[in-house]
Formats: sequence, structure tokens, C-alpha cells
Amino acid sequence: MMVEVAKVHDIPPGEMLRVHAHGAWIVIVNLDGQYYALSDTCTHEDASLFKGTFKDGCIRCPLHGSRFDVRTGKPLEEPAEEPLKIYPVRTLNGMILIGQAPARYF
Ligand code: FES
Repeated sequence: MMVEVAKVHDIPPGEMLRVHAHGAWIVIVNLDGQYYALSDTCTHEDASLFKGTFKDGCIRCPLHGSRFDVRTGKPLEEPAEEPLKIYPVRTLNGMILIGQAPARYF
């Protein structure tokens, strides 16, 4: 099931927003007009990635600096080794909707 979490205008290109949906904190980013939704919690030591920085298609963790590709959730640098959960995103009537992460991530 997809749920509305924000308006498209809430997240300009290059920005991110943290929302709570499907029982989890999720960070949504706008990468050149395309929206991606990922788990807000770093897979290394539970830092909030929303408090990090979003640049060049990656989110950098504020705690130890691992970078995650927002398109795949994969870490590009240690110390994080596990990928972030990725949530399906779509836009409809000016709203951003998020679905549940695929079961393989649980
Ligand atoms: S908590 Fe994110 S890299 Fe350590």
C-alpha cells in the first residue's frame, strides 16, 4: 500500500526530508527531479542520515562518514557495509507516496 507523506514542493532538487511511514523513519531525497526514499537509519550504528549531507547522489552519514548511493541504498565507503532499505516512491497529484520496502530487506 502506498501512503502520502509529503507534497512534491516540500522537497526541491538537492534537498531531503524525513518522514515517518510504514512504522519507520524514512528520508526522501530529490535528485535532479527524481525522488528516492531510503531508511533514515544508518546500517552502521543507527545515526539519522537526515542529519547528514546530501550531495552528488549520495547521503553522507553524520557520525562516521559512510556514503550511501540514494538510488541503490548501497554503501560506497566503510564503516557501513550493509545497504539501506529502499522504499518505492511515486508522485500523484502533487503528492509524494511511499510504498513498503520489499520483503527481502526484512
Ligand atoms: S553510524 Fe553511520 S557510518 Fe557509523
